[in-house]
Amino acid sequence: MIDSTHRGGASVAEMLVPLDPESPEPLHRQLYRFLKDGILAGRFAPGSRLPSTRSLAKGLAVSRNTVLAAVGQLTAEGLLEGRVGSGTRVTDHLGKRRCPSRQHAPRQETLLGDRKPAPPTLPRPFTLGVPALDLFPTKQWARIAGRRWRGVSPQALSYGNRLGELHLRQAITEHVQRTRGITADPEHVLIVHGAQQATDLVIRAIISPDDDVWLEDPGYPEAAAAIQANGGNLVPVPVDSEGMIVGQGLALAPNARVAYVTPSHQYPTGVTMTLERRVDLLAWASDADAWIIEDDYDSEYRFRDRPLLALRGLDDRDRVIYLGTFSKTIAPSLRLGYLILPAALAGQVHRLHAATDHSPNTVDQLILADFIHEGHFARHVHRMRQEYSRRRDALIASLRSELPTLEGDLPSDTGLHLTLPLPTTLPDTEVVKRAARAGLAVAPLSQYYRGEHHENGVVLGFGCVPVEAMPMAVGVLANAVRKVGASKGVTC
Ligand SMILES: Cc1ncc(COP(=O)(O)O)c(C=O)c1O
Repeated sequence: MIDSTHRGGASVAEMLVPLDPESPEPLHRQLYRFLKDGILAGRFAPGSRLPSTRSLAKGLAVSRNTVLAAVGQLTAEGLLEGRVGSGTRVTDHLGKRRCPSRQHAPRQETLLGDRKPAPPTLPRPFTLGVPALDLFPTKQWARIAGRRWRGVSPQALSYGNRLGELHLRQAITEHVQRTRGITADPEHVLIVHGAQQATDLVIRAIISPDDDVWLEDPGYPEAAAAIQANGGNLVPVPVDSEGMIVGQGLALAPNARVAYVTPSHQYPTGVTMTLERRVDLLAWASDADAWIIEDDYDSEYRFRDRPLLALRGLDDRDRVIYLGTFSKTIAPSLRLGYLILPAALAGQVHRLHAATDHSPNTVDQLILADFIHEGHFARHVHRMRQEYSRRRDALIASLRSELPTLEGDLPSDTGLHLTLPLPTTLPDTEVVKRAARAGLAVAPLSQYYRGEHHENGVVLGFGCVPVEAMPMAVGVLANAVRKVGASKGVTC
């Protein structure tokens, strides 16, 4: 199947690929596993070339999407690489890194019985909210973690400061002052396990059952879940190209207790809230004695110009509760985020927090604080901003070449995802189902709406898709779009 003759390996053109259409494991996963095992075990030599995806699909009697999904994943993992003019090849530099053969299987296999541990894989292409985990700053993190753990004090192993480590809270206040225009007292910063815990905590602290809560429409489902779980009455407020339409919120529920917004990078449409809307929103909160939750989940990644000032940076009446997270800038599994609280709310939120949890792992907080203080965080964010800009450009270029008829205005100045609008004749839920069968993890825009109006499109997380894997991943998506189009009589 793979032409390895020029490297001296046996030709594997006649190799049988054991694909089982009856297996609960999708065909693309079976093919992916077969190829991966072959590459890692050295059966397919570094540098050897794969047949074209079309001829592979034909030879294996599977759809091209199946082949594209398997090849795309292996490209994303760095085991295959695409070269212009010479097709897809097994990565050259694998020679030294190959896994031991089965005869020399690691002892772990024996300990686990006959089951082989699952190989580490990247998230499925376009998974939302997942950053470039392949570029996690392992070296610097491990060095600081080693130092912190070697010198760990009994104090760091005991219950930590209820608000979070002061060292980290100070690092955060300096960071938001420099990058977001926010002046905050470390006493008003609360370290939590991420934006999700922060949302639940403040909603619980503020609202009484049946209080109205404005939520952007379309909006972040996990925020809606936290509001509803705490008895809030969700009021979906439409979003246009300027962000939440504050006037509509006023018409729908002027006495709402809270508004939850993502002003830097609206989730999921990607628009940035204009200054005019920000001023309107702040004026409403002040007049109505209401609160604003500003979820600033990925504003570090603004590509064209400098990050905008946060809403909290404009707030001279202390109405904005600011949520920051390290899930996008470092890694979601770190589970570290923070709240910057208005002075009038701090005591109440601290008491509720103390009743439900202690602060996150102290040593992790100290490692993160060092990482920020020593300048690694700013450098990492800078490097990642450049990388995400490349990934976004690669996504847009591939979309333009694969689906030229759909090319429209793609709001993509910030963050790790963008939304590709689809005509209403192409239901996004069908495209997403088809794409999922081919191994992608895209989301249907229509499902983020709660009001009567729905737009149609697919939301694509490009943060976790390396540039080299983008054409393949977009190829799979475009095939799914074309297939749904063909079933509806639409050409795209
Ligand atoms: C809108 C929004 N807010 C917040 C988060 C981050 O949540 P957490 O800090 O709990 O990981 C995400 C992650 O995808 C998000 O999309």
